[in-house]
Amino acid sequence: MAISDEFFRIDGPSTVILGDNLEILGKLPSEVFQLIYIDPPFNTGRIQSRQSIKTVRSEGGARVGFKGASYETIKGKVTSYDDAFEDYWSFLEPRLEEAWRTLTATGTLYLHLDYREVHYAKVLLDALFGRDCFLNEIIWAYDYGARSKNRWPAKHDNILVYVKDPRHYRFYSKEVDREPYMAPSLVTPEKAVLGKLPTDVWWHTIVSPTGKEKTGYATQKPEGVLRRIVQASSTKGDWVMDFFGGSGTLGKVASQLERRFVLVDKNPEAFEIMRDRLGSGSQRLPIVYLNTNDDVDD
Ligand SMILES: C[S@@+](CC[C@H](N)C(=O)[O-])C[C@H]1O[C@@H](n2cnc3c(N)ncnc32)[C@H](O)[C@@H]1O
Repeated sequence: MAISDEFFRIDGPSTVILGDNLEILGKLPSEVFQLIYIDPPFNTGRIQSRQSIKTVRSEGGARVGFKGASYETIKGKVTSYDDAFEDYWSFLEPRLEEAWRTLTATGTLYLHLDYREVHYAKVLLDALFGRDCFLNEIIWAYDYGARSKNRWPAKHDNILVYVKDPRHYRFYSKEVDREPYMAPSLVTPEKAVLGKLPTDVWWHTIVSPTGKEKTGYATQKPEGVLRRIVQASSTKGDWVMDFFGGSGTLGKVASQLERRFVLVDKNPEAFEIMRDRLGSGSQRLPIVYLNTNDDVDD
């Protein structure tokens, strides 16, 4: 896959792309995104994942920078326990390699998963990125929906955070919205007013089914969760990317915080929702929309 400036120019507009992310990723230049956030679907399916991995490998692969043979050994052990996870990882792995390649040297990856896959993924990402590149596991806790009576009701998602270089990465803690102390009477009045830096456990409501943030896209994530991520791991003018874009939450927050972005989704419904939600941006930070399916139809 040749790099092309069709989807990205360092001085170009933010771009929302309708198409398969693996194909698009292969056309993006290396080391341009300060932050990549992804929230991939679990039910990717066997056929799709097998095809995807073939595409990347046949084009020369992207093992550069990864841990080669030791990673392959660990992958064999981890994936042998669970066929469904093996399929999932086969789908994700070439996309994570592209994420690593397109991150800047000081960049950060946020991988949003649920409790069923996170433990396998942690072991594999340690092997793939390097254990010393693991920065955090964020627990996003919410309180919504039915409560199981025969086990502890699962009410959280997991977000794994990896940096490309553990010696040179960015973390803008002062820029992150602070939150109220649980026991404000135990700290000074000044501190109570200022609030505290969030920890790695984030209590945040899901997108309210009746609230103004709602787009109607089933898997939409809350802007509040994405805002913390963008504030902590990028700064004004940086490029950020979500190649499982969905309803475009990362783009919404990035626009508000004056970052430039690339969003990709293969679902036409997501593309239309992003277009409605994000509009054409501002004169200084415009947003354009590219439908790669148009090429196929012609
Ligand atoms: C869980 S949703 C992301 C939701 C998003 N974070 C939001 O806030 O709306 C995952 C998205 O990945 C998209 N997707 C799945 N496979 C894809 C692929 N191969 N290429 C591009 N997008 C894909 C789906 O269409 C879906 O919109």
